[in-house]
Amino acid sequence: MRVAVGQMDLLIGDVEENLIRVRGLLEKAEKSDIEVLVLPELCNSGYAFKSIGEASGSSELIPEGPVSRELLTWSGGGRLVVAGICERTPKGLYNSAAVLGNGEHIATYHKIHLFLHEQNWFLPGQEEPPVIEYKGYQFGIMVCFDWAFPEVARILTLKGAQAILHPANLVLPYCQDAMVTRSIENRVFTATANRVGTERGLTFSGASQITDVKGNRIAQMTAKETGLVWADIEPTLADDKSITERNDILADRRPRLYKRLTQDD
Ligand code: ACM
Repeated sequence: MRVAVGQMDLLIGDVEENLIRVRGLLEKAEKSDIEVLVLPELCNSGYAFKSIGEASGSSELIPEGPVSRELLTWSGGGRLVVAGICERTPKGLYNSAAVLGNGEHIATYHKIHLFLHEQNWFLPGQEEPPVIEYKGYQFGIMVCFDWAFPEVARILTLKGAQAILHPANLVLPYCQDAMVTRSIENRVFTATANRVGTERGLTFSGASQITDVKGNRIAQMTAKETGLVWADIEPTLADDKSITERNDILADRRPRLYKRLTQDD
């Protein structure tokens, strides 16, 4: 299965230009026979809002909004796309990942760990991150700063994810390495699609990547380029959780001793 990560720069608040840029990546992905595409977080809007009014002015409905519709159409050719969307709902704005496949809206995940000033504009998601089935394979969804909470990738793995699809706008320098660890500790593929460029003093680190179940980077972009890279993966390799002949990364867990992890819930 050919999985790609798209890396792009965006213009804060310029929804028309952002749509053109998304369209450009979709065209490239189509030419490269991509079956599963991950695009960055907030790819309809940009990231560093000044006010809730500005965030709201760039938001859209999923799947009726302009970028969502474009993704929906692209997915109609037997493809899956996961993209970060600044989403407007009756309750308020969410930093969302829209999942669209085969011309249908499959799922929306509301980011549960909001980074830095995001809590000024976005409501935190209240639902567990989803695992969706596509072409018989299992894909888990998380957004950017969720990387810093290993519980998220672990829960996705426990729910059967073979690959984790991860729209991002990374600012801190640690995520790409952390996702290598998320792969190793869960024996899953990961695909992180990141932003480049600088917005109101925040520089995004690029280096979008795909890792295999042993944490090898099997595709990676540079810190500044835009475009996409892909890898042909066999998702079922993630079904083998053995890490030595006597250790299995899921079966060897000791959840009775981890109760502290959920004490505040
Ligand atoms: C982030 O969650 N956008 C760092």
